[in-house]
Amino acid sequence: MKRALITGVTGQDGSYLAELLLEKGYKVFALRRRTSTQNYENVENIKDKLQWIDGDLTDLASLITAVQIAQPDEVYNLAAQSFVATSWPQPISTGQITALGVTNMLEAVRIVKPDARFYQASSSEMFGKVVETPQNEKTPFYPRSPYGVSKVYGHWITVNYRESFNMFACSGILFNHESPRRGLEFVTRKVTNTVAKIKLGLVDELRLGNLDARRDWGFAGDYVKAMWLMLQQNTPDDYIISTGETHSVEELVNIAFSYVGLDWRNYVIIDRNLIRPAEVDLLLGDCTKAKEKLAWKTEVSFKELIQMMVDADLEKLKK
Ligand code: NAP
Ligand code: GDD
Repeated sequence: MKRALITGVTGQDGSYLAELLLEKGYKVFALRRRTSTQNYENVENIKDKLQWIDGDLTDLASLITAVQIAQPDEVYNLAAQSFVATSWPQPISTGQITALGVTNMLEAVRIVKPDARFYQASSSEMFGKVVETPQNEKTPFYPRSPYGVSKVYGHWITVNYRESFNMFACSGILFNHESPRRGLEFVTRKVTNTVAKIKLGLVDELRLGNLDARRDWGFAGDYVKAMWLMLQQNTPDDYIISTGETHSVEELVNIAFSYVGLDWRNYVIIDRNLIRPAEVDLLLGDCTKAKEKLAWKTEVSFKELIQMMVDADLEKLKK
């Protein structure tokens, strides 16, 4: 039985990845941090199948203990302060978790179980003010937020541990991926949740920021398969994971409202407070390498994804 340690299991990706690894017969160890109220919403169905270990990405001692307990063959480092907008008002904690937290996790692996395979959750946000389109593994980074800067650090420290200590460390540069388990603050889920509320007569407006921003949005369930595939290869490497399509926030809004038979123009209000200090205008990934080397592909289209999220939000709200 293979053993995996996942950080960030209570988040969107961690929950899908834990399900995938359990299905594959892994013993799954899940790092959780102490919070005043525990939120297991995303992992309710598998909570009792996971081996929980208390720890925090900013606390190296807890990570060393976690690796000692789990003795993992594979480590997936998904934990992060992952909301870009929060990274401006909280740049230091974002750096401590999302940047230095990666070194903490790598050090715990290097000290306790250096032969474990390591996955780092890197991000298309590293491309920021993009210098070429589409973006591939060789595109230079130009981060636009404290979050993006932190992810660039996490990416390079992962590459550095691979090159310095010969560790099997991979960095997955994932473009935006969404699902019904997405946090309510991210734009897709904010839109689908509010559309469902409007449809049910619970609220009558949706406040948004920049409708022109474009993202390459995929389904999280497809993306966690790529994480696993990266760690099954003969050699460690870095991969872009994306759909190869880009859509604007306005298109997203239009699809969600149209799906429930409403015209978005009657409900959307532009709120200047939601415009970011520096924006990432356009993301579009070229995942040719992942398609060819990992035989990975997306299975859910953008429209199907948004409709799936609206359906899930309608169902949740009706309950
Ligand atoms: P998410 O839903 O925000 O989940 C983040 C997870 O990290 C949660 O389980 C959270 O725990 C945990 N966490 C936060 N701070 C921690 C700390 N100090 N110690 C231990 N755990 C901590 O994020 P996601 O969307 O699943 O994304 C997973 C990873 O992929 C993140 O690193 C994100 O930056 C990266 N990424 C995401 C996307 C995307 O589009 N989703 C794209 C590229 C990269 P709590 O439940 O206690 O808050
Ligand atoms: N959240 C949010 N709320 N975003 C809005 C809003 C709003 O009301 N109105 C417009 N937007 C725009 C943002 O300005 C941004 O351009 C875009 O919608 C997407 O915002 P988010 O959904 O918050 O995601 P993100 O692209 O900033 O970051 C996500 O993707 C990254 C990968 O590119 C996060 O999951 C990051 O953790 C991830 O690394």
